[in-house]
Amino acid sequence: MSKRDLLVLAGDGIGPEVMAEACRVAEWFIGKGRIEATLTASPFGVSAWRDSGELMPASTLQRVREADAILFGANGGPEYDAIPHALRRAGSLLRIRKELDLYANIRPVRHWPELAASCPLKDEVAGGTDLVVVRENTSGLYFGEPRGIETLADGRKRGVNTQSYSSDEIERIARVAFTLAGTRQGRVCSVDKSNVMESGALWREVVHRVHREEFPRIELSDMLADNCAMQLVRAPRQFDVILTDNMFGDLLSDCAGSISGSLGMLPSASLGARRADGRLPALYEPVHGSAPDIAGQGVANPLAAVLSFAMCLQYTFGAPGEADLLLRAVRQALADGARTPDLAASGSRRVGTRQMGDAVLAALGSLA
Ligand code: IPM
Ligand code: MG
Repeated sequence: MSKRDLLVLAGDGIGPEVMAEACRVAEWFIGKGRIEATLTASPFGVSAWRDSGELMPASTLQRVREADAILFGANGGPEYDAIPHALRRAGSLLRIRKELDLYANIRPVRHWPELAASCPLKDEVAGGTDLVVVRENTSGLYFGEPRGIETLADGRKRGVNTQSYSSDEIERIARVAFTLAGTRQGRVCSVDKSNVMESGALWREVVHRVHREEFPRIELSDMLADNCAMQLVRAPRQFDVILTDNMFGDLLSDCAGSISGSLGMLPSASLGARRADGRLPALYEPVHGSAPDIAGQGVANPLAAVLSFAMCLQYTFGAPGEADLLLRAVRQALADGARTPDLAASGSRRVGTRQMGDAVLAALGSLA
């Protein structure tokens, strides 16, 4: 396996804190010779803007384009209110997703028996859940044109975004979901609002065609997005792979966070199409975002960032055994009782961000 060039963009809010722990874990794998990689950080987000006037300086964008994979922390926070819209868009996570055409956002959600006490859902409802949300990541309402805020002739203002999908965009994300399902329980539930939206009707039509023509052995069902939100907290075990668009995927993956006990447990991978030279454009990112309310306090849960690195081991390094080792280490850390405040149930041992990282490293040491 050739040496991989990993770019760290810690970003805003709790990003730097959780990424510090993910990087310690990555360095453990490098130090033990289990993977070959270099790890370098570039300025991104509010701190970069304060230093250079840009959220994503040109040198960072260059690194984004050349790195084998990006380990991303978080993007956003109250400071952004002072930054002009155009500047924000030019230096955003969405820009990176679009720039690298990271169209497939993969968000695994599992129930952790170790965290049953902090899961808001009853054990008999959520226990055993193991699902993946496959979210289309570079189109739909997030990117559709026209968009903007206009002033009407009578002085009123009007904000516009456009939900738009072309058949090729639906085809390629559907293939990702069907292919992934083939490595799991073989079931895809495609989620849309085809009862209201034309883009949803097209979504359903195209997903069914791809299924019929290319993946007839996979079981396909459809669900309306509002019902899916309800089913995720009512009977989440029914799902294997959920295939959905950008906006619904954003909402439903947060909703699914309740199954894991905390948003602080949800990792993600954003992947592009494999290039001719074999490289896979990839960005790994905790789902939780910048959490400005707890930033800088050393209490954020780093496990979503650590689990995102496990996805990097799987997809960028093609090393499922190493990914599994890290997953088991996280389980072990939780079983040993380490709990950041978002996970803490009464009577448990409360730890900070750094100590949770320590607990994972200790577990890696004993499991390896
Ligand atoms: C996510 C986040 C992002 C999104 C934000 C930070 C732009 O919520 O990755 O789910 O809405 O896609
Ligand atoms: Mg989100």
